[in-house]
Amino acid sequence: MEKLIYTGKAKQMWQTDDPDVLRVVYMDQATALNGKKKEHFAGKGAAAKAISDLVFHYLIKHGIPTHFIKQLSPTEDLVKKCDMFPLEFVTRNVIAGHFASRYGLDEGKVLPEPVEETFYKSDQLNDPFINESGTIALGIASHADLEKAWSLSREVNGLLKPLFEKAGMQLVDFKLEFGRLSDGKIVLADEFSPDNCRLWDLKTKHHMDKDVYRRKLADLTTTYDKVLARLQKVVKEEA
Ligand code: ADP
Ligand code: TMP
Repeated sequence: MEKLIYTGKAKQMWQTDDPDVLRVVYMDQATALNGKKKEHFAGKGAAAKAISDLVFHYLIKHGIPTHFIKQLSPTEDLVKKCDMFPLEFVTRNVIAGHFASRYGLDEGKVLPEPVEETFYKSDQLNDPFINESGTIALGIASHADLEKAWSLSREVNGLLKPLFEKAGMQLVDFKLEFGRLSDGKIVLADEFSPDNCRLWDLKTKHHMDKDVYRRKLADLTTTYDKVLARLQKVVKEEA
């Protein structure tokens, strides 16, 4: 019997008959301000999932270990169940978002090298920033775990920056999540979609990610569909 084990801000996680496998359902919902702002967008779940599946396929093809098993339907995937690190691994290539507001900077300057920030996943606490020693002290992850997660994050950045560039988009920043499989292996989990990255059109600098919802700039599903179409074209050309 399947059991709903978690309803998040964008997805539902269902336990399947196999204890090591989850069914993920992408919902037609977008949130901002840590869930305080919430809205329904028809087709958004399928668009986000299609982008995430394409990106995960690309990463797997290039040797990144992930939780992905297979697609079940346009809004559902099967994934390997992980013991998740309650951490968000954010990589920034360009000054934007909270990096700009926190330090009083204008958005848009390319950073001399990627900035890496870790946040403790807690809706109650508003996902506070946490450094390496804090993570260790709280028993959230070991030095080795963090080293593995960051080395995978760097590989992901190295693979995705040029992929998005070929698709006419600048990969400004992104958030990854990692978890441990039942055999102890650390893998990339969760999703990679414009819900958790910033993408700017290379020529116009127009936002092509969840900022269009946060900042009321354009329709979310239409924007995600454009990102998907561009990525599909590049992947097809590469095949
Ligand atoms: P949030 O929890 O931030 O509201 P979502 O709505 O995307 O986010 O919910 C998905 C949840 O499932 C996240 O908390 C994420 O950490 C977790 N998750 C993602 N992939 C896996 C996995 N393979 N195994 C277990 N949990 C996962
Ligand atoms: P930030 O500038 O708001 O800190 O966001 C940096 C990146 O991380 C951006 O691509 C959006 C993503 N992100 C999430 O996916 N979830 C979150 O809870 C936050 C705060 C950011």
